[in-house]
Amino acid sequence: MDPPSEFLEFIYDEELPFMLKVYDELNKLNSDLPVLYAGSAGDIEHAIFLGKNLVFFDNHLPEESVREIINKISRIGKIESKEMMGELKKGGKFIMKFKIADQSFHLTFYGEDATTVGITSYPELENGISVYFVKVPYPREGNTQSIRYPAHFARALKLIEVGGYYLEKECPLAFKLDIEKLGFRKIAEGEIYALSIKWGEKGNLYKKVRDVADIEKLLIEDYIAAGFDM
Ligand SMILES: C[S@@+](CC[C@H](N)C(=O)[O-])C[C@H]1O[C@@H](n2cnc3c(N)ncnc32)[C@H](O)[C@@H]1O
Repeated sequence: MDPPSEFLEFIYDEELPFMLKVYDELNKLNSDLPVLYAGSAGDIEHAIFLGKNLVFFDNHLPEESVREIINKISRIGKIESKEMMGELKKGGKFIMKFKIADQSFHLTFYGEDATTVGITSYPELENGISVYFVKVPYPREGNTQSIRYPAHFARALKLIEVGGYYLEKECPLAFKLDIEKLGFRKIAEGEIYALSIKWGEKGNLYKKVRDVADIEKLLIEDYIAAGFDM
């Protein structure tokens, strides 16, 4: 299945084959659970391929990211409602409903550190997630920990429903370990654009095929085997 032409407005020719593959694959899922995008900045254009219920986290200049998202959606779709609840970076969130072609979306944007997921309670994530999306997640705010640090990464991977997906660029599922041991299967790889670092490494799409109880332990062993300090 192909997306409406409006989805392609911000997509480069080089990334089109991968984004179409991702859209086709993820549309088979038909889940009510949200897509969690950790370190999103204002990158709404890739997230719309992944699902209709989007939850973004970015703690670096979140108001600017929200403005960028509003501008992009105004160009390719119609904003139906928007509301700022509280203050970003202080536990608040921005909520927006919008339509692109005939498709309705719901976005929740938190200006929080994404590594608090699974520790702090976020109502949208309470029942799990359908997709975990991470793309070039370099921290920009002081004191922000790495999304890829095993303990944080394990909590996020556990949230993905069985049958759901992990989509990443420069946030590898494993360094040395066989990904099957983590309960995932590789579906596709290809070019996908990221803010600051346009090309470089490819994006990878993985499907979660089973829950792995000791995933944090396996991720720690893999992290150490790859030469990182714990
Ligand atoms: C290089 S930008 C990439 C932005 C976007 N993912 C893209 O592909 O265009 C990295 C973003 O990740 C965010 N980030 C990194 N670690 C984070 C964390 N722990 N919590 C929230 N945001 C984080 C940064 O604030 C920054 O906006």
